[in-house]
Amino acid sequence: MSNVPLLEVDDVSIEFRTRSGVVKALEDVSFTVAKGEIVGLVGESGSGKSVSAYAAMGILDAAGVVTKGRIAYQGMAINGAKERDLQALRGREMSMIFQSPRTALNPIRTVGRQIGDVLRRHGGATRQNWRERAIAALAQVRIPDPARRAEAYPFELSGGMCQRICIAMALACEPKLLIADEPTTGLDVTTQAAIMDLIANLCRARGMGALLITHDLHLAAESCDRIVVMHAGHVVETGPVQALFARPLHPYTASLLAATPSPDRSLDDIGAIPGNLPDLRAPLPPCRYRTRCQRALEVCDREPLPALVEGKKEGTQGAFGPLHPQPTANAAGQLRSGDGSAVAPGGTGGQNPPHPNHHTVRCWNPLRTEEAA
Ligand SMILES: Nc1ncnc2c1ncn2[C@@H]1O[C@H](COP(=O)(O)OP(=O)(O)OP(=O)(O)O)[C@@H](O)[C@H]1O
Ligand code: SF4
Ligand SMILES: [Mg+2]
Repeated sequence: MSNVPLLEVDDVSIEFRTRSGVVKALEDVSFTVAKGEIVGLVGESGSGKSVSAYAAMGILDAAGVVTKGRIAYQGMAINGAKERDLQALRGREMSMIFQSPRTALNPIRTVGRQIGDVLRRHGGATRQNWRERAIAALAQVRIPDPARRAEAYPFELSGGMCQRICIAMALACEPKLLIADEPTTGLDVTTQAAIMDLIANLCRARGMGALLITHDLHLAAESCDRIVVMHAGHVVETGPVQALFARPLHPYTASLLAATPSPDRSLDDIGAIPGNLPDLRAPLPPCRYRTRCQRALEVCDREPLPALVEGKKEGTQGAFGPLHPQPTANAAGQLRSGDGSAVAPGGTGGQNPPHPNHHTVRCWNPLRTEEAA
C-alpha cells in the first residue's frame, strides 16, 4: 500500500459538452502525487490545470465528462465514486485551495464560522473548541489579530486576506493531499514565502502531498520536487524540478521558461510564446502545440504523439518508452521511428544513456540536451 500514490491521474481525458461544441479540455493526462512531495502543475492559461484539479477532487462542472482514464486517491477511484464517499474524503483526506478566494467564501457568514464549519464537519471539532481551533488556523497563515478577524465577513477583508482564509480552511483538518490552485497569487512576497514554507513543512513533517498549480515558474522552481508541464490539455513533459528547468526537452517547456521574467534578464530578453492555444472545440492535430512549434516535422501531423513514459522505471533509455516505436539512428545520425520513417534530424530519444535525473517528454523532436542548456 505504501507505493500507492496519494493522487493518481492515469490517462485521463475530459470533455465539456457545451452549446457551442465539445471542448476537449484534457486528453490522455497522467501524473501522480506521492506522500511528502510537492508537484508543480504549470502551463499557460487554459491549459487544463484547474480542470485537472477539479477532476481530482470530484467536483467537475456538470457539463464535464471524464471520457477515459482513472483518477484515484490512495487507490480509491474518484471518477465514478458516489458523492457521499467523495464528501467523506473532502476536507479530512484531501482539500483544495481555490483559484478565486472571494467566490470560494460564503459572503454572509463570518470567516471564523466558515472555518469552524469545516472543522466541525470534517475535523472533529466540538461546540466548545471550534472557535479556538479556527483562530489557531488563522494564526497559522499569519493573519494578524486572528481573534478579531475571525468575526469579519469576507467583504470586510482584502483579497490577499481572503486568500489566506481559504488556505487556512484547506489546511484546518490536516489533509493528506492538498490541491492548491494558484494559492499565493494575490499575496505579497513575504506572506507568499511564509505560506510556501508552511506547505513545505507540512509535507516534510506529516507526509502531506501537494499539487501546486501556478503560473509562477520561479515559485515552482523553489517549492516543488517535480514539475508537470501542460499545454492545451496535454501533459507535454514531466520531471524532477532541477532536471526539467536545467534541461527542458519539450519545445513548449523551453518557450515557457524563455518567457519567464527574471532579475538578470532585460525585457528584450524575455521571449514570447508564438501563437495562441488552439480552440479545443475544433478538430485538433495529434500534437496540440503543432501550430506554434518551430521544430515541427512531418511525422508530427501523421503519427499519434509518443506516450509519456517514465523511461527509468520501464528500463528504457532516454525520453521514449516501450509504448511507442523506439527511434533508432541510421548511419547519418538521423533518427527513425520503428516503421523506419525519419522522425528527427536530431534529438535525445533512445540514443543517450539515461541521465540520473532524466525526465519524460511527449514530442517527436525534443530539444537536444545541449540546445536546452
Ligand atoms: N465548465 C466549462 N465548460 C466549458 N469549458 C470549460 C469549462 N471549464 C473549463 N473549460 C475549458 O477547459 C480548458 C482548461 O481550462 P482550465 O480552467 O483548466 O485552465 P487553466 O489551466 O486552469 O487556466 P488558468 O491558468 O487561466 O486558470 C479551457 O479551454 C476552458 O475554457
Ligand atoms: S516537434 Fe512535433 S510533436 Fe514536438 S512539440 Fe513540435 S509539433 Fe509537437
Ligand atoms: Mg485555473
